[in-house]
Amino acid sequence: MKKLTQLSILIIFALLSCDDGRIYDTEAILPEEGRVVKLTGEVTGNNNWTDKYSVVLAGFDDESEYAIITKSVPLTGKTEVVLSGIGDKVIRMELCVINRLRKRIVTLQALECPATADTIRLEASPIDAGMYATIQDRLFSTTCAACHGYGERAAAGLFLTEGRSHAALVGKESVKVPGMLLVAEGNAEESVLYQTLASEVSTGWGYDHTKEVLSPTWLELLKDWIDAGAKE
Ligand code: HEC
Repeated sequence: MKKLTQLSILIIFALLSCDDGRIYDTEAILPEEGRVVKLTGEVTGNNNWTDKYSVVLAGFDDESEYAIITKSVPLTGKTEVVLSGIGDKVIRMELCVINRLRKRIVTLQALECPATADTIRLEASPIDAGMYATIQDRLFSTTCAACHGYGERAAAGLFLTEGRSHAALVGKESVKVPGMLLVAEGNAEESVLYQTLASEVSTGWGYDHTKEVLSPTWLELLKDWIDAGAKE
């Protein structure tokens, strides 16, 4: 009887270890599920994003602003990023900036993502994906430069056009609020640029900038850029 018990314990152990082995084997030979995306392109820029943000290749569904799958993209020029295991839910790939919660902050490029192909090759147009370049491209050039610099006219003498805005802002004294800097490196609260958009300081000026309603995300991005030293 004792012998029988010992034998059965042996058999159980043998079965257990055998089982263990089988699961491992099965996992090892399973092909990886989902599609694969290969992104190539010239993605450059000073990587001065603060550690709250990352430049990534990311997959989204059509409802949420939170990425389902991501892979970081180095800003080193000729770039190739391979992202595998992209499930059916993902219908949209983006080269974008996300925060730590994987929430989309800025779409740099939206990329078609066909459901059929197993391997999807995407080509990104050359892009400067640095923090300041993104602020220039998505805010100053699109929203502000119409009054601040296009056509060689610049309200308050402030040029927010590409190639000029950094020198015009950082460490420069404000016309409207004498004694304060437009951008005080490392201190958004003390910067007239930030206050112009985040407070009501401009309501009595020639143009009330509260009309330029920035999303909380954009205000935070501008603040983070200044607080981190307003690097070019
Ligand atoms: C519709 C035109 C218009 C737009 C758009 C506009 N501004 Fe202005 N801005 C002005 C005018 C006009 C003044 C000067 C007001 C005055 O002299 O009373 C000014 C002043 C400023 C000042 C103060 C400059 C100083 O030296 O004190 C800042 C900073 C500023 N704007 C930032 C921005 C930013 C950033 C944007 C984009 C989000 C923007 N502006 C969009 C018209 C505009």
